[in-house]
Amino acid sequence: MRRLGLVLGISGLVFLFSMASAYAYQDEEAKRGAEVFARRCSTCHGDRGQGLTDEWRATWPPTHQNCWKANCHGPQPYPENGFTLPRAVPALIGPNTLQRFATAADLYTYTRARMPFHAPGSLPEEDYRAVTAFLLQRHGIPPDGQPFDPEAARGVLLRPTVSAGEGTLRRIMDHPTVRYLPWWIVGGIGVAGLLWGTIWRLRRWS
Ligand code: HEC
Repeated sequence: MRRLGLVLGISGLVFLFSMASAYAYQDEEAKRGAEVFARRCSTCHGDRGQGLTDEWRATWPPTHQNCWKANCHGPQPYPENGFTLPRAVPALIGPNTLQRFATAADLYTYTRARMPFHAPGSLPEEDYRAVTAFLLQRHGIPPDGQPFDPEAARGVLLRPTVSAGEGTLRRIMDHPTVRYLPWWIVGGIGVAGLLWGTIWRLRRWS
């Protein structure tokens, strides 16, 4: 009996912990995402996600370095198919970047709807997933073998201001298993098992 309680308790905890880290992205996705980033994002956001810095523009041919000049992406008139580029193109990688996005799902939704700036929504869906995976990786969120899933990404947190405990709890609560199964049964069994094991132990000692 004691052993059964212990086994139940431990499996309950293992279950909760495995869910806490699930559903970020796959390693290969992030690799593909790096290619997408290089092809479709880096022109504006920099080769290292540093943003449209002077240093990055200086790597371009001289005639392409004045982004905000008239006839380029500044005041009109534009060349054909031209567009106005905001004065600041934000960095996406590095300290304090992507701060406005609380979760990976927020980042994905924004990117898919608004980027690339001059042609929003023009990438295949899987490229948006891949490039989001790449950005997650660069923000220190490890891959976990599960493909990036916009639904589950609501539980993947980007802001360090959210405490680890809060983050773990949110990931658990947002996990599909928890959302669609009576999780309190599984959690309850785990907790009851642990209690059971502990009480058994205490009784033996007393
Ligand atoms: C033509 C230039 C251009 C390209 C290409 C481009 N972006 Fe952007 N991006 C911008 C600009 C400008 C902003 C700021 C928009 C604003 O302030 O409304 C921005 C903002 C963002 C933001 C919000 C960052 C923040 O902290 O506010 C993300 C995320 C982003 N871009 C991702 C991407 C991704 C991923 C790609 C490639 C698929 C991409 N962008 C391609 C110009 C570009």
